[in-house]
Amino acid sequence: MCGIIGYVGSQNAMPLLLAGLKCLEYRGYDSAGVAVLANGKIDVRRSVGKLANLEKLLAGNGLAGTVGIGHTRWATHGKPSEQNAHPHRSGSLALVHNGIIENYLALKELLRKDGFRFDSETDTEVVAHLIARSVKAGLSLDAAVRATVREIKGSYAIAVICEADPTTLVVARSGCPLVIGMGDGGAFVASDVTPLLAHLRDVIFLEDGETAVLSGKELVVKDADGKAMDRPSTRITWDATAAEKGGYPHYMLKEIHEQPQTILDTMRGRYSYEQGEADLPDIGVTPEQLGKTGRIWIVACGTSWHAGLVGKYLIEEMVGAPVLVDIGSEFRYRNPLIQKDDLFVAISQSGETADTLAAAREAKRQGARILSICNVVGSTLGRESDGVLYTRAGPEIGVASTKAFTAQLTALYLLALHLGRVRGAMSVEDGKVWLDRFVTLPTHVERLLGREAELVSIAKRYHTKRNFLYLGRGINYPIALEGALKLKEISYIHAEGYPAGEMKHGPIALIDKDMPVVVLVPRDRLYEKSVSNLMEVKARGAPVIAFVTAGERELGRIADAVFTIPDVHPLLSPILFTVPLQILAYHMAVLRGTDVDQPRNLAKSVTVE
Ligand code: G6P
Repeated sequence: MCGIIGYVGSQNAMPLLLAGLKCLEYRGYDSAGVAVLANGKIDVRRSVGKLANLEKLLAGNGLAGTVGIGHTRWATHGKPSEQNAHPHRSGSLALVHNGIIENYLALKELLRKDGFRFDSETDTEVVAHLIARSVKAGLSLDAAVRATVREIKGSYAIAVICEADPTTLVVARSGCPLVIGMGDGGAFVASDVTPLLAHLRDVIFLEDGETAVLSGKELVVKDADGKAMDRPSTRITWDATAAEKGGYPHYMLKEIHEQPQTILDTMRGRYSYEQGEADLPDIGVTPEQLGKTGRIWIVACGTSWHAGLVGKYLIEEMVGAPVLVDIGSEFRYRNPLIQKDDLFVAISQSGETADTLAAAREAKRQGARILSICNVVGSTLGRESDGVLYTRAGPEIGVASTKAFTAQLTALYLLALHLGRVRGAMSVEDGKVWLDRFVTLPTHVERLLGREAELVSIAKRYHTKRNFLYLGRGINYPIALEGALKLKEISYIHAEGYPAGEMKHGPIALIDKDMPVVVLVPRDRLYEKSVSNLMEVKARGAPVIAFVTAGERELGRIADAVFTIPDVHPLLSPILFTVPLQILAYHMAVLRGTDVDQPRNLAKSVTVE
């Protein structure tokens, strides 16, 4: 997830671009850059780190010109560095990109043969070269963009300027957002409406496959064949703060709603359907090494630890290999008996959590190979690991983790598939069956998000209660922990997650009519047992909120409130239970009037012990 801004008109572009990037910095902040066209020449300035570094670089050294593009980066391909920062140049043009080009390696190979040189490790540079090649062959800039997008696979939002056409800015999208609009002094493009609001209110949201040609005087939207289209504009009435959150009242809700995209992004370009295999070249462990791996450890803190617990169930079930899961602060202070060929998987959204880092360092010292599952490119954990499987959730601002968690689960599905295939636990056909299941996840999540009203009404019934118990079994036991953690983090309601079968060994003493019990009951081999647990709860008068699989009748009759998830393979149910539990916690917190995005006493990244 990166931020794109562009301007063409009669004003000085630079301050407009910088102000726009400031609004978009939440989309990525590992490097930033701008390109401005003046006197027929493009000038590019880029800088590593936050936008402030670029502003410093430009102070007193500004570029003058009335056409320009800017970018704030969230690295996916290639570390945060000046070379990898956008805009990327090819000949007389400069380009910024948000998204992932899946076939960039094949295209790079072809372009190299044609004599193109690559200065970065990014997937983006191939797009710049392809457009430049078409422009050189005589196509107009917008025709060259359309010719190029026919060759690339994956997701993109791009903005490009060219010295040969100094009053035009061309943009295109597929799978990543772009908004355009005409203001007093010229035309603007951005990844979301926030930067535009200072200049205009009527915007056009580009659709997949469309391009747009922006000049100082007009905006022309074109379809995939280059035919101009009449696209109505939308009037935006948000204030600036709401706009930063994409119109959502809180970052947390916005991030919950981004999950279909972030799950898709985390999978994108990382599997081969023909081979029934996950394609994970950056994990730092070869298939041969994985074949010889001793024990598998997963270590993490907080929500990431819950992802690790799900990972244990997944890997044990799909691969047949035992997995040890530990909390960072526990692992680091005991003698973990790591052995030389062990694989140590560290999971961390931030890559900066002190306890997880210390655990990974200890494991490394004892000879294990370190693979991290991490969301922040360039983070300490990422740098110190032998390999990284990056989740591509984009920046997570809400302190309570949501989209990063489901992206971690997605990464674990891919890792389990890869382990299963290289260790011979799965055939090509088995792998294909798993992939068929994985790819349905974004759509299922999208549909669940459309049912927010059902969860609001459950929240309204129970938000005044002071204690909640969350029960789950097997792979959904960690989801019960996560559901309870979300509720306590943001609503300050006391909530406990428990393995359903363990309830009778203690927590049952707490149960009465004032303690709602949330149960997660997929239709799996433990179904009957979960129903028995539910009956035990009901017998003691507790209100039961059941999350069940669609088609379920029996529990629907017993429970006080029911929410259904799609009938998927039980190993896929964790993500589908997680999303409604996040929404339920969110609405409970809103009804109680707490500070959802910045709950008291918590921190997004805990870099101390
Ligand atoms: C903090 C955050 C949690 C997070 C945990 C681990 O406690 O509030 O949301 O799960 O740290 O963070 P990490 O960045 O390592 O995933």
